[in-house]
Amino acid sequence: VSGNGLEKSLPSSWYHSEAIFRIEREHLFCREWFCALREEELPRPGDHRVLDLFGESVLVVRNREGALRAFYNVCRHRGARLCRAAGERDAWGVELAGGIGAGRLIVCPYHRWSYDLDGALVAAPHLTGNAEFNKADFHLYPVGVECWGGFVFLHLTPAGAAPLAAQLGETPARVQRYPLAELGIGATRRYEVAANWKILCENYNECYHCGGVHPELCAIVPAFREGGGSSLDWARGVPHRDGAYTVFLLRPLAADRTEVVCHFLFERPELEKAGFDAAETIDFWDLVNRQDWSVCESVQRGIAARVHESGWYAPMEDFNLDIRRYVTMRIGPYVPAA
Ligand code: FES
Ligand SMILES: [Fe+2]
Repeated sequence: VSGNGLEKSLPSSWYHSEAIFRIEREHLFCREWFCALREEELPRPGDHRVLDLFGESVLVVRNREGALRAFYNVCRHRGARLCRAAGERDAWGVELAGGIGAGRLIVCPYHRWSYDLDGALVAAPHLTGNAEFNKADFHLYPVGVECWGGFVFLHLTPAGAAPLAAQLGETPARVQRYPLAELGIGATRRYEVAANWKILCENYNECYHCGGVHPELCAIVPAFREGGGSSLDWARGVPHRDGAYTVFLLRPLAADRTEVVCHFLFERPELEKAGFDAAETIDFWDLVNRQDWSVCESVQRGIAARVHESGWYAPMEDFNLDIRRYVTMRIGPYVPAA
């Protein structure tokens, strides 16, 4: 098919192949800032989180001065994991002492090397008196951290990375009327979706599907059904209850698996009202979300058909061309067949 007024999507194999996913990890996920958390998730010095970012375990901590720091979660001695993620267990049913304790040090459970919350090695049993041993050689491997709008962004290759502001480009100016930094989390829903991250991004980039997939949403915003949202002033935002915003963080886990964290953010006075109850907002978006995941998983399975070499974007899906460009500019050319 050609000359039909449509634009070709990436080849279907790019949504399945673990080899492509590994290339994306090298050239996208490990080379860019990724939004990982809200700042309020780590409010106090010593608060920390262990995150799995594209297969790398990362430790994010708030240091004594209140600044966020992040490191690869690996000891510089012989490489033990420093901290376990919340609820993480191995098969052996034992608790190893270590991690971040009240002393606000990061203590390795293996030989008890300890690091301060800036990642500097402060003590190594039986070695620190040794004149040849230079602790400065054993700083934890840094992960880049920058914040904007109350969001915490991480960079797995911080040396030589462009500042976050460069990557955000015009976004801060475009959303400056939204008080993002002041919002608080009213609720969070986590989903694991059996679909490639690009399928989820493409789904977010168009409202062509809203009429078919989201009847309840269309009952609230009829324009979604009529023109796929094309008649809406999107810059004014999608209608929500007053003072409520939804924020989605996507974390690619594998070629065919993506975690989606959905935060419901509210203006603080709203959160603090007696009888604050967001259940209606949350249940509604949870339904819309599940409709999206269901159709995205159906795409993931559908495009595995041996005859389906690629899909097509209709003119009203033109933002999806950005995904095609974003990926191909970073991992190499994709030349649409004529
Ligand atoms: S591996 Fe961490 S102290 Fe030995
Ligand atoms: Fe949707």
